[in-house]
Amino acid sequence: MTALAERDCQPAARTVADVPALLPVVGSDTLVPLVDGSSVTYANLDVAASAPALRSVADRVTEVLPLYASVHRGAGYLSQVSTALYEASRATIGVFVGARPDDVTIVTRNTTDSLNLLAGCVPARADGTPGRVLVLDVEHHANLLPWQRTGGATVLAGGGSVAETLSGLRAELARFDYALLALTGASNVTGESLPVAEVVRIAHDAGARVLLDGAQLVPHRGFSLAGTGADYVAFSGHKTYAPFGSGALVGRRDWLDTGTPYLAGGGAVSQVRVDGTDWQPAPARHEAGSPNVVGTVALAAACDALAALDPAALGAHEAALRDALVDGLSGIDGVEVVTVWSDAVDPVGVVTFSVAGHDPGLVAAYLSAEHGIGVRDGRFCAHPLLARLGYDAGAIRASVGVGTTGAEVVRLVGAVRSYVESGPGVRYEVVDGCWAVVDDPRPVPAGSGLEGLFATAAAGFLADAASCGPAPA
Ligand SMILES: Cc1ncc(COP(=O)(O)O)c(C=O)c1O
Repeated sequence: MTALAERDCQPAARTVADVPALLPVVGSDTLVPLVDGSSVTYANLDVAASAPALRSVADRVTEVLPLYASVHRGAGYLSQVSTALYEASRATIGVFVGARPDDVTIVTRNTTDSLNLLAGCVPARADGTPGRVLVLDVEHHANLLPWQRTGGATVLAGGGSVAETLSGLRAELARFDYALLALTGASNVTGESLPVAEVVRIAHDAGARVLLDGAQLVPHRGFSLAGTGADYVAFSGHKTYAPFGSGALVGRRDWLDTGTPYLAGGGAVSQVRVDGTDWQPAPARHEAGSPNVVGTVALAAACDALAALDPAALGAHEAALRDALVDGLSGIDGVEVVTVWSDAVDPVGVVTFSVAGHDPGLVAAYLSAEHGIGVRDGRFCAHPLLARLGYDAGAIRASVGVGTTGAEVVRLVGAVRSYVESGPGVRYEVVDGCWAVVDDPRPVPAGSGLEGLFATAAAGFLADAASCGPAPA
């Protein structure tokens, strides 16, 4: 077990099992049923997919709901209050990611939305062809497909080390007139990062701007546009402990002021005639329709809560949990922890692993059914990376955040060890492409209104979700 004596943020924790959550989250005491008829507190180790709401975020939502009314167009008192809350939240979100005074903050639905928006704003080349965008093959599909769709994307294979990857980027950026390098802040598969400020220097020297996909980095390490020199950052509220439907794109104003309006509709225009439309500059240009006021206030509340944390404490909490995951899992026979770069530093709390000879979906189903632990399995919307690393059949991912305790990590390591040493305690079968307990006795949550619908809905969804799920057999 990782000793924590030298980690100054956790003086009271002697072993990882004693590491407490850093901030309270909603649902940390939720009981879930196991196949043996008992219940156990849910261990949510799938934070990289969607993080639970911070208690302070949920409280803020409850506080502002009575003030909620239409924004931007209402003359009523509460409309004005809601407009002020929305605009103040926009400012908070920008400050949280170190926006420069002339940067613009656009409220979106999530990282995917932000990246699709920016893809419509990259200027075309002088000959009218799409502006060139460079991406690495380590990216989440959200930071790959929008660029592929516009037709200007080059996907470069990353190297086995950070140094090799940086020199590959440098060489490729010198070959063509790239407008943009779209880079992950932290891999959603391994938690590893490239040194952002250094990548920005390399790209700027070649005349390219840099977009940082901050979906995994921003909630876990914080990030500054001004501090790194990056031109844009995109991130998601639901991964930043504010699962109320808002995300953000923040960065340089010029492309965003002139790019294709993301949605056509009310609020994005200054004048509409029957024969044409004058569009607003950003942010209104890209925020047509009624905005998500409550979600945006929630995201700002999460930004406030994370900004108030000591960055060293945040990093040390996550490093303690991550180290315990990596050490514990690597110590089990047949378990292999996935890495992209041999020399990456300070990875975030995302750890992907495989169990030799065992389908990742079966291991994940076992962890849920017999231990009440939630992890992710599949290819994590990163098919090119998983293919390059030899994990076409998928893997298992555990991820942690500010609400995670050391005891949850210890539970996961113990459960994987039991699986490897003793195998599952009940029978599993593949139903519609997914592993499920044979005659699963677990009831659906009381009061959820899901009786009878739960199993069918889950099976139906999972059958359709092959784009991110396990590889086809
Ligand atoms: C690195 C990374 N980028 C982008 C996304 C897409 O985020 P969202 O689903 O919130 O749009 C994810 C989601 O897992 C991610 O991990």
